[in-house]
Amino acid sequence: MENPFEKFNTWWKSALINSPLKQKNAVCISTIDSNGFPSGHFVDLKSVNEIGFIFCTYLNSAKGEHLKENSKIALTLWWDHVGYQVRVLGEAEPINENEAFTYWRTRNKEAQLTTTAFQQSKLLANEEELQSRIDRVSNQYINSEIPQPKAWGGYTIKPQSIEFLTFRESRLHLRELYTLKEGAWYKSLLQP
Ligand SMILES: Cc1cc2nc3c(=O)[nH]c(=O)nc-3n(C[C@H](O)[C@H](O)[C@H](O)COP(=O)(O)O)c2cc1C
Repeated sequence: MENPFEKFNTWWKSALINSPLKQKNAVCISTIDSNGFPSGHFVDLKSVNEIGFIFCTYLNSAKGEHLKENSKIALTLWWDHVGYQVRVLGEAEPINENEAFTYWRTRNKEAQLTTTAFQQSKLLANEEELQSRIDRVSNQYINSEIPQPKAWGGYTIKPQSIEFLTFRESRLHLRELYTLKEGAWYKSLLQP
């Protein structure tokens, strides 16, 4: 039985070759808010391993609050240049502090400053505050490493199902559905 994580990474690698996309790793994750509404958010997919799909964010953002109440999550992506769609359903689990710190260190200084300067999803008084907050933290950390904010971390989406769709102009799309049952992955095909 083909391993869907390996299949995903093979697709991802091929999508990155000559990719015309500026934001090459952007995927849409969907959480459920406290009123039961789905809520879509684009995030950068950091990596995919045998456990799941990892993204980073503020743990107390809107999506972080949704996940505290309901860990169910979907991930959807469409790579037009290769004709691949992937849909993942699963549960999100916070990554541990060491892993989060490793991702923190991969962020460039500008991204670290922005993450430190803001409380994602909270109200901003006015547009000028964008720059004034950045100026304040830039001065604060002018000669020193920027510590990882407590509220920043990441999640692993542990999938229960992963559907790979190979788009065809004829609309005879190939839909390969992998479902996890008692620890083993089963593959089936779906009509287009
Ligand atoms: C291409 C792209 C990539 C993004 N990557 C991330 C990301 O990795 N982490 C993140 O927290 N927000 C990312 N964002 C911003 C989110 O889409 C979203 O606006 C933000 O996380 C606030 O979400 P929330 O208030 O719904 O929780 C990205 C936005 C775009 C357009």
